[in-house]
Amino acid sequence: MEVVIVPDAASGGELIAEAMAELLRHKPDALLGVATGSTPLPVYEALTAKVRAGEVSVSAARICQLDEYVGLPHGHPESYRSVVLREFVAPLGLPESSFMGPDGTAEDVAAACAAYDRALAEAGGVDLQLLGIGGDGHIGFNEPSSSLASRTRIKTLTERTRRDNARFFDSLEEVPHHVITQGIGTILDARHVVLLATGGAKADAVALAVEGPLSALVPASALQLHPHATVVVDEAAASRLKLADYFRATYASKPDWQGI
Ligand code: GLP
Repeated sequence: MEVVIVPDAASGGELIAEAMAELLRHKPDALLGVATGSTPLPVYEALTAKVRAGEVSVSAARICQLDEYVGLPHGHPESYRSVVLREFVAPLGLPESSFMGPDGTAEDVAAACAAYDRALAEAGGVDLQLLGIGGDGHIGFNEPSSSLASRTRIKTLTERTRRDNARFFDSLEEVPHHVITQGIGTILDARHVVLLATGGAKADAVALAVEGPLSALVPASALQLHPHATVVVDEAAASRLKLADYFRATYASKPDWQGI
């Protein structure tokens, strides 16, 4: 696992957007897995700026979703499908047909989950999966105690996660209890997994994920199993890392051509 400590969220966004751009320069139809929440927004802004500046073309790129609420009506502005289309797919100028995600409106949720795992495999697998991290260490919507081998399935949100996400809804009552999420095993199938965490509220979760034991209680610790996992953190999110100086020195001496 590589840990990169950046001065601020904008630098983290730039670093990851450049990794996405470099991937697309070599593989124009790469499948990019994207996350929701506030943290990834600087990545989406930086990649959009690169496209507008002519530094990379995304015209053949494909985008896929990490997780979704169950039961929000089709087109609900806070369904993750709507959020990803609004914050990433549309600003890049991509058509909706370039995007795939699980169907949170399906009557048969189990079938929708299995169909999404099949669709990801048939698409050739995810090339780069961007992740945020929940304050309790969750990735996607894999809450603590999630199987580290799990596939896409239905999960029940913890009250903490529902409260964290209530800011996107008019009230806590409107936040769904159930979600569909790529499983931890599904996430680990991506060729490159990049987790971005910013702000002091994520410092404990980051330290447990990077330096703690591999544990279903900290789902993000599963990244320790991945052969190409990159954790990008700002100074505040890095503040509990015991190996911070080592991570800084390692990255500082890395040749530019190597990327992340
Ligand atoms: C939700 C999403 C996660 C995201 C997390 C943190 O739970 N399902 O993918 O990482 O929120 O969001 P934020 O980046 O806003 O803290």
